Amino acid sequence: MTHDDSTDPSLDLTIDERPVASYDGGVPGHIAIIMDGNGRWASRQDMPRIRGHRAGASSVRAVVEACRYLQMDVLTLYAFSTENWSRPDDEVTGLMTLFDVYIERERERLIGNDIRLQVIGDREGLPATLRDAIEELEAASVEDAEMTLQVAINYGGREELVRATRSIGEAVDAGELDPDAIDESTLEEHLYTAGRPDPDLVVRTSGEMRISNFLLWQMAYSELFVTETLWPDFNEYELVDALREFDDRERRFGQTDQQLDS
Ligand code: FPP
Repeated sequence: MTHDDSTDPSLDLTIDERPVASYDGGVPGHIAIIMDGNGRWASRQDMPRIRGHRAGASSVRAVVEACRYLQMDVLTLYAFSTENWSRPDDEVTGLMTLFDVYIERERERLIGNDIRLQVIGDREGLPATLRDAIEELEAASVEDAEMTLQVAINYGGREELVRATRSIGEAVDAGELDPDAIDESTLEEHLYTAGRPDPDLVVRTSGEMRISNFLLWQMAYSELFVTETLWPDFNEYELVDALREFDDRERRFGQTDQQLDS
């Protein structure tokens, strides 16, 4: 799928002068991004870490709008893991405030650009004000929006699988589910991402070769793209590089070259 000129006019029109406008290759339905390197970006400039996260929020806006322009169906961003609570208190508080500010500041842009917000992760563990703001925007952004922005906050792939297993166990206990009927789709229905597609492409910034407890089930067949660029420096040029590489990949899903050719 490629973008065309009939893109929603409510998008920032200056985007036509930007790199995504000249990209004419294939676009995956779903990209998931591990946004890493905010802290290093800040310390390289002698700034507190939170300044790196704030700069990272600007990259979020640029990438969200570029993906929407390209008519992507789902963009997932890894914003805060279940392990990130162990960071210094001021960084954790700063990040929670940043998520609040993002929701308030981007609300109209997201809705105006037909983007639906969906948060994945254990929201019960979030501050009540943030949880309320998330739920208000999730409800306000319509279900049949053109793109879903899935933001992982207090998310851990293992926690998601434990939670899904527990909930399946409860259904079995209640006599609502026959254990012999449990298959992959049963598990998928109990994940935070139920009903949404798996990522075709997972991007990680800052050069680390790890998946860090992200979408453990969902990325079984995702293509991976790792760039040395730190997240606050990630922009549309980088996104287009990732898309070009994705477009050149052959996805085999366990099959041989010959099977794919035929
Ligand atoms: C990892 O970089 C980044 C995070 C834990 C936070 C990501 C959050 C943002 C980009 C803020 C804006 C997000 C939204 C959705 C509004 P790091 O701090 O681990 O970097 P380091 O490895 O260089 O220390």
